[in-house]
Amino acid sequence: MSQTYRTFFGLSKEAFPANIDIDEILVTPEVQGVKNRFDYAVRLGSSIVITGDVGSGKSTALRYAASSLHPSEYKVFYVTATTGSIIELYRQIVEELGIEKTSSSRAIMMSTIKNEIKEFVQGKKMKTVLIIDEASLLRMEVFAELHTLVQFEKDSRTWLPVILAGQPTLVDKLQYRTSIPFASRVVAKSHLEGLDMAGMKSYLIHHLKLCGVDTNFFSDQAITAIHQGSGGLLRKANHLARGSLIAAAIEKSMSVSAEHVRIASSEIF
Ligand SMILES: Nc1ncnc2c1ncn2[C@@H]1O[C@H](COP(=O)(O)OP(=O)(O)OP(=O)(O)O)[C@@H](O)[C@H]1O
Ligand SMILES: [Mg+2]
Repeated sequence: MSQTYRTFFGLSKEAFPANIDIDEILVTPEVQGVKNRFDYAVRLGSSIVITGDVGSGKSTALRYAASSLHPSEYKVFYVTATTGSIIELYRQIVEELGIEKTSSSRAIMMSTIKNEIKEFVQGKKMKTVLIIDEASLLRMEVFAELHTLVQFEKDSRTWLPVILAGQPTLVDKLQYRTSIPFASRVVAKSHLEGLDMAGMKSYLIHHLKLCGVDTNFFSDQAITAIHQGSGGLLRKANHLARGSLIAAAIEKSMSVSAEHVRIASSEIF
């Protein structure tokens, strides 16, 4: 799509990008809520669950929460569930641990992971955190086994807090009988709702500021249209906001209208 909208509005970079830096994250009450629960789980060595619809800001909130853990003190393992199988999950954790040669046996992989965690905690005197993003993709067998990964020695030492994030179906999976041993270690959960109207306005203004602009180009009607069209979900709001800026620039209008948002919405799903 045209870059001329940037020149037209005087934006220093692409507006509403997919990737933002940690210091560009808008710390909404929900993002702060995720961070508070994250810190709580890390302190206790327990687990938390973060849910939200696609594009609600889960991964961003996790990145924000994890960024405050100092790398000299904490070793954070961040994996994103893909196929959902337990072997794949272990493989990803092993890779995060930096272990090159591994077995393909599930039991050996699990014991390798636990030994490494033990070495971090007892040998290197570091604290460990496991973040599993897209955890709603994990198969039931994973939830049934996850508690054995976090249990160390007879007194079930809490060395590996686990942060699970995923779509709302994650909660259903944790309610199965077979998931109870892990679910019983969950000390808090947070559901990311879409932003409300006031939150959406702040969000749009925040992103314009990231492009070096202090003017709010979005009319109140445009903000309402973006809010309704996105259901408050941020990725969709990003596309509508950027698309409507492009539509406004084509008409040489410095004010984005609801009609510009409608044009943008015809381009996306
Ligand atoms: N607090 C925030 N401040 C600024 N931008 C944000 C914030 N949260 C999310 N975004 C932006 O919204 C988009 C979607 O966010 P994110 O990828 O975190 O959502 P998600 O819930 O993890 O989505 P998915 O379900 O697809 O994994 C990203 O482009 C991100 O940059
Ligand atoms: Mg995500």
